[in-house]
Amino acid sequence: MQWSRIAVFASGQGSNFAALVEAQRAGRLGPGSIDLLVSDKPEAPVAQRAEEAGISTLLLRPKDFASRELYEAEIVAELQRREIGLIVLAGYMRLITPVLLTPYAGRIINIHPSLLPAFAGKDAIGQALDYGVKLTGVTVHFVDGGMDTGPVIAQRSVVVEDNDTAGSLAERIHMVEYGLYPEVVGALASGRIELDGRKTIIRHS
Ligand code: GRF
Repeated sequence: MQWSRIAVFASGQGSNFAALVEAQRAGRLGPGSIDLLVSDKPEAPVAQRAEEAGISTLLLRPKDFASRELYEAEIVAELQRREIGLIVLAGYMRLITPVLLTPYAGRIINIHPSLLPAFAGKDAIGQALDYGVKLTGVTVHFVDGGMDTGPVIAQRSVVVEDNDTAGSLAERIHMVEYGLYPEVVGALASGRIELDGRKTIIRHS
């Protein structure tokens, strides 16, 4: 297993996936190479983006399997066949079970559109607007068995403007995501991120 061989998991639009592919093309993912897109929604736009980018896809419907575990076992077999070392969740709308977590412990990351631990779970941008916070942002974190609870790797803040709608705030949050995620993935692929308990350290060279 090599850290540099990456599978991106996504369920939706895939704009973060596209930003990662673009970063790799521009030489901003270090040794990172996106070798596979995994999606639980074969009809999602991200699947088409991958095909257009010439990236292999694994498109499986969880409901075609008898259990979540069997669905994930099929994914793990394919990841291991391809010697994937790093799993990058980018809008993958499912909780991960130990079937995937155990062989990839410390090697799965996620991006979430809030400053965790605030506004975990679904619709983080709507939650932040409803709460009335003046500052929100983006978090990249390791994935554990919980919902957005793993150790934080990097965070960036985004100011909430008085006239923001969910759409306008999401747009600015996305722009921050497209910069931050490739940076973290590149650092991980280069072995520059250390994890000590819940604390992560990114070495900058
Ligand atoms: C992003 O906002 C990400 O933070 C969240 O899901 C969204 C995915 O958007 N986890 P996209 O599919 O990358 O466009």
